[in-house]
Amino acid sequence: MRGNKEKILRGGVILLPIDILAGILEAVPVAVEVADNRGNILYVNKAFTKVTGIPAEQRLHKNIFNVSPDGALALALRKRKRVSGHRCIVGGTMVEVISNASPITVDGKMLGAVVVFQHITDIINLLEELRRSNNIIKNLSHKFGQVTRSKYSFSDIIGCSEELNKVLTVARNAAASNSTVLLLGESGTGKELFAHAIHNASARKNGPFIKVNCAAVPENLLESEFFGHQKGAFTGAINDKIGRFELANGGTIFLDEIGDISLVLQAKLLRVLQEMEFERVGGIETINVDMRVIAATNRDLRQLVRTGRFREDLFYRLNVIEINIPPLRERKDDIEMIAGSIIEKLNRKMGTQIKGLSADAVEALSGYHWPGNVRELENVLERVSIGFNGSYITADAVKPHLNGFSSAAESMEIMEISKMEEILIKRALEKYGTSMKGKKKAAAVLNISLATLYNKIKKYNL
Ligand SMILES: Nc1ncnc2c1ncn2[C@@H]1O[C@H](COP(=O)(O)OP(=O)(O)OP(=O)(O)O)[C@@H](O)[C@H]1O
Ligand SMILES: [Mg+2]
Repeated sequence: MRGNKEKILRGGVILLPIDILAGILEAVPVAVEVADNRGNILYVNKAFTKVTGIPAEQRLHKNIFNVSPDGALALALRKRKRVSGHRCIVGGTMVEVISNASPITVDGKMLGAVVVFQHITDIINLLEELRRSNNIIKNLSHKFGQVTRSKYSFSDIIGCSEELNKVLTVARNAAASNSTVLLLGESGTGKELFAHAIHNASARKNGPFIKVNCAAVPENLLESEFFGHQKGAFTGAINDKIGRFELANGGTIFLDEIGDISLVLQAKLLRVLQEMEFERVGGIETINVDMRVIAATNRDLRQLVRTGRFREDLFYRLNVIEINIPPLRERKDDIEMIAGSIIEKLNRKMGTQIKGLSADAVEALSGYHWPGNVRELENVLERVSIGFNGSYITADAVKPHLNGFSSAAESMEIMEISKMEEILIKRALEKYGTSMKGKKKAAAVLNISLATLYNKIKKYNL
């Protein structure tokens, strides 16, 4: 082969001295072998010996068509073409490699060929590494879409009652600490709003706020929702999945409806809260997390503990700071102010121009028992505002929208309370039926226990 003794030329530009080029070829971690047109082996680098185990002196000046007739170098010489991704065993060895070979052409004339190759396990390792990296990238992009931030702060919690202010003070102090918070209160009292506000006022406010609705996720999927899973961990686990705890790292996890999780999962949850570590479903790697936990439920957790449906140790783990948000009927001073804020939002949303509530409307709203709390107040005002074009909402406008008891009671004739109880129970049984399921539903709607319902059925001879 002809060459420039001093410098390598490419397109007339002097690039590298030949000794530097030789140094490079010796240093690269892939095997290099060069043969001339007739197959005489002219050069092998250090990595060649390392990969194949063949010393340079045993290889040089042999003919490639004899020693490795099926290799990529022989192929490239024979076909006078590039050969890529060629998998074969190096002649005279048991070493399997993947090679790429190219003809060496100078001034349009083919002078020989060069092959570069690597041990197949190196490639397999690289592929494995690539697969792992791809997985991480996939997980991360998946994660980006799932990480949520808190949406509300303490300034969104409206009210001026003493009861609410007491609770707000506890919540503000809780925000300043890193302790686990348990939010208790009836449906619609603002537990989720408080959870957001506590996160937002905490040192973790720039971290994620991740909510899991424990009642909404089917029991068999909840574990993987919490902890994530490894691909193939169970039927349907077609990809790796990051769990909510992992997503919450550096931030807050909000376990909503915590009273609804099974005893099996309660045990697993307890471990995470104690150790701040867990494994993905089907995974072996232990994942550590740094997060604050806020849990909420509208169920009576103490009662669930007493009846064995909620672990006592988990209850105490969660109940570090307990915040009981009182129902709206116990803080009627808040109604007018909250209603004012809701009306402002409705005006923006519905394009209405309602200025507020008339005095008799405030009175009517205050006389109602608000089983659905603030959420119900929002719904009532939204229904009132549809098609409303006055400036102040009156009692007459709201009364038809107050569900159930109070409006029904107004149209009801006065009677003995026990008579009214009998009528209500009878109506509930007519509506839901006298099967076990019907009775359970009737008891739930009447807000009495099943045992009490049975007693009353006996008492009134229904
Ligand atoms: N003090 C408040 N000021 C303003 N809005 C409130 C207040 N309390 C609750 N809300 C609003 O009432 C609605 C219900 O609140 P939230 O969802 O936080 O209740 P919850 O206690 O989580 O109810 P559930 O137990 O049914 O999940 C929300 O739209 C919330 O913004
Ligand atoms: Mg809620």
